[in-house]
Amino acid sequence: MLSITDTRTGKQYEIKVEEGVIRAADLRAIKTDQADQGLLAFDPGLTSTAVCHSTITFIDGEAGILRYRGYPIEQIAEKSTYEAVAYLLLFGELPDVAQLATWKASLGAEMTVPEQLPRFMDAFPQTANPMSMLMSAAAALSAIYPDARTVATQEERLVHARRLIAQMPILAAYAFRRTRGQSYVNPDPSATFGANMLRMFFKPDNSPNFGASMLRRLGGKNDEEYVPNPVLAHALDILFMLHEDHEQNCSTSTVRGVASSGADPYAAIAAGVGALSGPLHGGANEAVLRMLREIGTIDHIPAFIERVKAGDGRLMGFGHRVYKTYDPRAKIVKHTADAVFKVTGMNPLLDIAVELERIALTDEYFLKRRLYPNVDFYSGLIYEAMGLPVEMFPVMFAIGRTPGWVAHWLEFEQDKEKKLMRPLQLYTGYDRRDYPESR
Ligand code: ACO
Repeated sequence: MLSITDTRTGKQYEIKVEEGVIRAADLRAIKTDQADQGLLAFDPGLTSTAVCHSTITFIDGEAGILRYRGYPIEQIAEKSTYEAVAYLLLFGELPDVAQLATWKASLGAEMTVPEQLPRFMDAFPQTANPMSMLMSAAAALSAIYPDARTVATQEERLVHARRLIAQMPILAAYAFRRTRGQSYVNPDPSATFGANMLRMFFKPDNSPNFGASMLRRLGGKNDEEYVPNPVLAHALDILFMLHEDHEQNCSTSTVRGVASSGADPYAAIAAGVGALSGPLHGGANEAVLRMLREIGTIDHIPAFIERVKAGDGRLMGFGHRVYKTYDPRAKIVKHTADAVFKVTGMNPLLDIAVELERIALTDEYFLKRRLYPNVDFYSGLIYEAMGLPVEMFPVMFAIGRTPGWVAHWLEFEQDKEKKLMRPLQLYTGYDRRDYPESR
């Protein structure tokens, strides 16, 4: 119990503490008089408010720990696959061999390209941002699969869950190829997740945009011979696994918030893509690359750091709402980058990133604020080495995050405590006033 004495009234209250938290609604009993709406907590950014119970992902931001369903992210990245992790997130346990085969087959069965998709994508200008196209295409699935509006059973929900996981990569690849004016490539359900992605992204067509150097880098000589490089395919699998879930982050909370109104899962996930697109969230990997390019050379770093410390811009890819130490995913990404660069050649921006990290990890400004590299600090370098433009980085993040969004949607739908998301505000506008006669 928490004993509270309201010094405004002298009244005493006993508030129940369970699982280390109080029910915010219990505070409403604390009133100065009957007209008082009761005590509220003011929490912009919800930095100190738990909005649900969840069994999916555990994070200890102080210790730098991330676990999916209890399994440490380091072991997941080393031993698992994207599809097995998606299964784990959705169903709570790792699949055995037979379950994994069935699960992959069921995802493969959903890897059909909606008939309307090519025309839908063609309607965008070639200059359109691919994340905007992805967001629109995810929302379009809501129109293409209207049965998603009435999902009463878990079985029905799972149809859409599988479809979202299977089709987001297709939407993303279509968006990418639209920006290049290239013909679309259909998925290959028999390939690994990463290999299928590389193929849908990079399988050449006759477009002049597809240069010979890109082909050499990615493994093929011509249309028939195109074989995704297995090191790069595995690197993508790892990056996607690392991104699959991260509990109540901005985009996942958005997905839950939209789903809380009863909106269908495609609408909820399209909103999640929108939330992810911002530079403070999934757009950070893109912002990191732009920052590294702007810095240009190592000798420009000290001046850049001074500017950041003076409040002019941020060191993108550093800092995290939850992690107050090194993001455990960042270490794995850095390690993965080494393997990728052995295939693609060194990314010259890596030297700038490493030097930035070295300075930031010893500089009082960053130490005091506990700002460490997050998952996005090195992921962009890998994507760039693979030949993806910066605008595609958040799209890659969205593909990886889809199983997490879906798992949270499923969890939310079965949550006995679920409620329409509807925060309160402290109104600071005008008091009542009369509309003037003259307008
Ligand atoms: N560079 C410089 N200073 C920073 C940075 C940064 N990257 N991040 C935080 N700070 C400073 C702030 O200026 C503030 O300083 P002050 O106390 O002197 O005013 C202090 O650290 C606290 O910052 P907040 O913005 O209050 O911290 P918050 O938890 O809200 O922000 C966030 C977290 C948004 C991730 C922030 O660290 C940031 O903007 N980082 C850069 C963008 C980024 O990499 N985002 C990706 C996050 S990971 C993800 O979504 C996958």
